[in-house]
Order: sequence, then structure tokens, then C-alpha cells
Amino acid sequence: MLILGIESSCDETAAAVVEDGRRVLSNVIASQVEEHRLYGGVVPEIASRRHAEAIDGVVRRALEEAGVTLSQIDGIAVTYAPGLIGALLVGVSFAKGLALTTGKPLIPVHHLRSHIAANYLAHPELKPPFLCLVVSGGHSHIVQVKDYTQFEVIGRTRDDAAGECYDKAARAMGMPYPGGVALDKLAAEGNPDAYPLPRPHVEGSRYDFSFSGLKTAVINRLHNAEQKGERINKADLCASFQQRVSGMLVENTMLAAEDLGASTIVLAGGVSANSGLRAGMEAACAQRGYALYAPPLSLCGDNGAMVAAQGYYELLAGHTAGMELNAIASLPITE
Ligand code: KG4
Ligand code: ZN
Repeated sequence: MLILGIESSCDETAAAVVEDGRRVLSNVIASQVEEHRLYGGVVPEIASRRHAEAIDGVVRRALEEAGVTLSQIDGIAVTYAPGLIGALLVGVSFAKGLALTTGKPLIPVHHLRSHIAANYLAHPELKPPFLCLVVSGGHSHIVQVKDYTQFEVIGRTRDDAAGECYDKAARAMGMPYPGGVALDKLAAEGNPDAYPLPRPHVEGSRYDFSFSGLKTAVINRLHNAEQKGERINKADLCASFQQRVSGMLVENTMLAAEDLGASTIVLAGGVSANSGLRAGMEAACAQRGYALYAPPLSLCGDNGAMVAAQGYYELLAGHTAGMELNAIASLPITE
């Protein structure tokens, strides 16, 4: 079965064709990141405009590169929630237009579900149930994936998302948006024990995260050094920050795995590209004899292939929509 996947929830306009939820035939991404970098973050109005300009060409190219025509497609999957509302609306409206004119099923896909599905594209043997750490620019969840379309949120961030925390810490250190990747790179050259950073605790849940205190600690450390005329070793600060964030993500995920008796751990979302998190999770899983899966770096960020992959399983479950489908800015993964 061939699914066309369309993604426009943030700052990438993307489309892809995937066969049976597992085999990528094409995966086209038009990134707007260079333009948003001028402003230090995503400007929603600009994002919507660029999506509107790019989407037709991106979808055409995805079909061309896959060597298929629209008539050969079995379903049109689109990210409808959560994300920037104006940005989501471009993809949803375009997909609705395609579904209406072709008579193909319209498949609404939750953005975090699609990040999880990126793993199905890279790991043919991976099947639910498993425990998944979903870490992106907007979300940080520990999710029990019971089936392809059945989820339970076990832990979540109480404030900033992990990616947001990375980007804000990087920005404070003078790195351009989105700073997560640059911070990760510089961390490799630093000493992770050079700057002790707080380990924020969360009341009431063993698995919830809190990152905003950590971001503030980095900013305070920088201000403090500036006031005293002291030189900060940026690589050391990056390494210390990275060790702390990945430590928190790994610890809580291992706690949840132990409590739930899960032995298959999966990483998903933009931050799953982080080298510290991947290495920390690998070591923790190896120690406990857990199987670990993560998407290849090329599928960690937003893309259309992951939407098509999840779309396939949503279609099998009968989750299609009519022309009443609307974009939703905020929606739990369970709905
Ligand atoms: O999943 P994603 O592409 O978009 C959202 O759904 O939000 O995630 C983007 C986030 C950004 O905050 C970006 O800085 C972060 O993922 N990110 C990283 C790395 N690569 C991307 N954070 C830390 N280390 C990385 N290597
Ligand atoms: Zn994303």
C-alpha cells in the first residue's frame, strides 16, 4: 500500500511516499531554518507563508522521485496536530484538496506519533509494544506504545521541552538558532564535569521532567562570569549541560522501563539526534540487556516519511477523516 505523507507543523515543508509503512520511496524536505535564524527562532507568520509557497512543489517532487502518480497512491496522510496552527493549516488544506479531487482516503496524523513511526522505517523488526522517549522542540514525553495507534503517556515535562531547553541554552551561549545541534557538537570537545549544574526534581511523579531550572542555571552561570570578568569555557559548559540533560532523560526512562517491565526502548523526535543522549541510552540499555532503537539522523527531525509511515497504520486502524478535518495546535498523543 502506498501512502503520501505531508508535514508542515513547524519550519519544514515535507512530503514523502512510503510503501506499507516501512519502505521509503521518496522523502523531500524544504527547510526554512535559514530564514528563521535571522530572528533567533521560528516566526509563525513567515512559516505559514513559506509552507504555502513550497507545498505544491514539494509534493510533486515526492511523487516524481518515488516514480508514482497520484492515482497509484492509496491514502493521503497529513500532520494535523500539534504544531503552529497557521503552519499546520497549509498541509491540512492541501491534503484535503488532494483527497477531495482524487477520492483517496484522508488520514490525519499526530506529529508525535509520526516521530515514533520514523523508527519503523529504519528497523523492520521493530513492533509495538515498547517504551518510547519522545524528545522534540515542543515535547518531552515517555510514552508506552501499546500498539501502532494506542499510546499511554507515562511521563512528561512540567515546563520546557528538552529541545527548547537546548535551544535556549545555546542561544545564551551565542549560538545561532536552532542551537541544539551546535551545542551537541561543541560538547564533544568539553569536560562534562567542569561546571556542576542542578538536577531539577519534580514533585509527585517518578517520570516527569523539569528543564527550565537548568536553562536558568546556564544563563546565570554566564552572567555571573561576565560580571566577574571570568572566562567561561564554552565547550565545558556545553558538555556539562549535555551530560545533565541526557542524564535526566536516561534516568527517568530507565525508571519507567524497570517499573513497567519494558525491555525494548525507542528514541524519537529531533533531540534523539543528540550524541550524548544516544550514547547514554546505549550504555544504560546495554547494562540492563534492553534492546535500543533510534531513528537514523536523517529521520530524527521533521519529515514526510514518518507521517506516511504512521499514516499507514492509522489507515489500517480505520482512522480516516472527511472534509471537516481541522488543524489543532495542541492535542495529546492519546487522542
Ligand atoms: O522534532 P523536531 O525536528 O521538531 C519539533 O517537533 O519540535 O525537533 C527540533 C528540536 C530543536 O529544538 C533542535 O534544537 C533539537 O530538536 N535538536 C537537537 C539536536 N538536533 C536537533 N538537540 C540536541 N542535540 C541535537 N543533536
Ligand atoms: Zn517534530
